[in-house]
Amino acid sequence: MKFTFLVKKYKSTYLISQRSIQEVINTAQVVDIIEDYITLKRRGANMLGLCPFHDEKTPSFTVSPSKNIYKCFGCGQSGNPVSFLMEHDHLSFPEAIRTLAKRYNLELEEDNNHDDDEFKEQKKLEESYYIINNYAADFFKTNLLDTNDGKAIALPYFKERGFLESTIKKFELGFAPDGYKKFADKAAKNQFNEEFLQALGLVSKKGYDFFRNRVMFTIHNVSGKIIAFAGRTLSTDKKQPKYINSPETPIYNKRKVLYALHLAKNMVRKKDNCYIVEGYTDVISLFQNGVENVVASSGTSLTSDQVRLVKRYTDNITFLYDGDAAGIKAALRGMDIVLENDMNVKLVLLPDGEDPDSYIRNVGTTKFEEFIDETAKDFIHFKMDLLLEEAGDDPIKKSKVIKDIITSVAKVREPIKRSLYLRQCSQSLELDEKTLVKEVNKIIREDIRQRRLEKEREERQDLPPESVEEEAYFETQYEQAETRKYSKSKHEFQEMDLARIIVCGGDKVVKTETGENVLIVNLIHSNIIEVMQYFENDLYKEIIEEAIKFTTSEEESSFSLSNYFINHSNEKIKKFALDSNSSKYTYANWGKLDVFLQTQNMPEENFYRDSIEAINRFKIKKFTSVIKALQAKMMEKGITQDTTIIILKALQTLQDQRKELAEITGTVVLR
Ligand code: CTP
Ligand code: MN
Repeated sequence: MKFTFLVKKYKSTYLISQRSIQEVINTAQVVDIIEDYITLKRRGANMLGLCPFHDEKTPSFTVSPSKNIYKCFGCGQSGNPVSFLMEHDHLSFPEAIRTLAKRYNLELEEDNNHDDDEFKEQKKLEESYYIINNYAADFFKTNLLDTNDGKAIALPYFKERGFLESTIKKFELGFAPDGYKKFADKAAKNQFNEEFLQALGLVSKKGYDFFRNRVMFTIHNVSGKIIAFAGRTLSTDKKQPKYINSPETPIYNKRKVLYALHLAKNMVRKKDNCYIVEGYTDVISLFQNGVENVVASSGTSLTSDQVRLVKRYTDNITFLYDGDAAGIKAALRGMDIVLENDMNVKLVLLPDGEDPDSYIRNVGTTKFEEFIDETAKDFIHFKMDLLLEEAGDDPIKKSKVIKDIITSVAKVREPIKRSLYLRQCSQSLELDEKTLVKEVNKIIREDIRQRRLEKEREERQDLPPESVEEEAYFETQYEQAETRKYSKSKHEFQEMDLARIIVCGGDKVVKTETGENVLIVNLIHSNIIEVMQYFENDLYKEIIEEAIKFTTSEEESSFSLSNYFINHSNEKIKKFALDSNSSKYTYANWGKLDVFLQTQNMPEENFYRDSIEAINRFKIKKFTSVIKALQAKMMEKGITQDTTIIILKALQTLQDQRKELAEITGTVVLR
């Protein structure tokens, strides 16, 4: 079963047991989670608010506490508490589960079936690394504040740079003393494992201190754990590298870390913007001057992983870079990475010879912020101003610049945003919009092709779900009509109805007219079992078959059937389940009843009645197609009298049965 697979996959990577996952999903209340972000007002049994996924003035974001799902009738986003966190906060599935577990004080159990020795080893190792790093940070801090050398050499350096004592404490700045083994000896005395000290890059292979006579910057991960250090030299010797950094370890991958994000993240969320600067000292200086939504991509040029870290808190990034050639180059590269991750990017180049640290100290916070507001450019204008000036009147150079800008636009995934950018380009560059659109589409198509080829090379199996996404991304229109999506032919509509009933309440027990208690799914299945092979839509067929398996499985599950489908790993099934459980069209034939906006849970007799009706409508449909086929057969040349009689008899029976069904359901049958 697909779902088992999904959980297995997460098990092996993250080791949360299936039971825990189910417990979290069963406990988390959609209203609690969503109300952390938006205000909801009661509307009947549901809650209504402004959609957090798209801009709107009148609320169409509907939350159903009883079904524990949400759905926006404006943009189509839908899901449960887990998917809300995944979509809104850009968390992975296990991250979302962990977040919810924390919130509801649920203990997550690890999966004991799994042979997790390796995992436990790894965790133990990581724990040791953190302990050692904490020890080292304390050593550097003490050396800065409480030793003669620290007070005589390092502290004055920080003071000179204008850092207050509170700032020094907040950023856990320190000092690595001059000498060969000061740290190494102390660590040895405290019986820290030498191998670990070396792995962390604190001590060299020969046992010498790695950081010597340097002021120390402590590097944390998002949750504030110490993962690495950077040391800036205090010597003026040009041969000395200005900064040295801890090597990569299992707890430190510099491409996935942003300096000070653990301190900045709340303000980034609040201001809905993140400044990215180049240096440690820039971050610290801005913080001290009251600008706290700032981080640095320390020691590397900006990576996609780093941008995605920011995306958890905001969609907006502003680069504050030096105005020199290196700064411009970094800005150009960084911009495309931000765009590729569907975020908005602005750019500020600081005046000649200034970095954010020196500039804010020179002009003060107010002027600094004014400068940012006044000079921040979006990527189109930045590129236009920068590159067009270079190109001058040379038409060849000019067209290259345009191509360059268009290539950046093509990186924007969201179609609406992309077309807005294109409009802006066409206006600013005085070029025909249609031509630009064509160009962009060409680039996108080529991009998709390239990526697909790459992927196919990687795994020569089914196209992975990403490719489906890419297809969707290519579509300029957002959502298609709900019904069109699922019902290609008339037959499929009947099949869809059955699948819908099953994903909404297939595991409900109903009483039949003869007084038997049966599960809806069994009622439906036993009625259509002979014609299952004539199903036209594989998705609906799969749903019905999986529902049977789920309800008869010996494997224990605390999920309801609808929860099972809502959490399904097959995106199509999941989407169908969500839409069915929330859509206004859920039960097209429940007369005027609007399931989602209705105030009560569906009474059981309705489930029974509607299952029967859906079954009958389905049968009528199938009968009709058999009847048509037989009628066609009769018209064929060379049919014998005998055959004709047999067919006629069969037709009679079928038509009678169909009529009977039609009378029960009140359906008008067209001949
Ligand atoms: N950097 C580095 N190694 C170097 C030089 C720079 O890793 N040899 C990284 C550091 O993360 C540094 C950033 O690039 O913070 C920016 O470099 P720079 O502007 O030279 O340093 P500042 O942080 O401005 O330091 P200072 O103001 O003390 O010169
Ligand atoms: Mn500097």
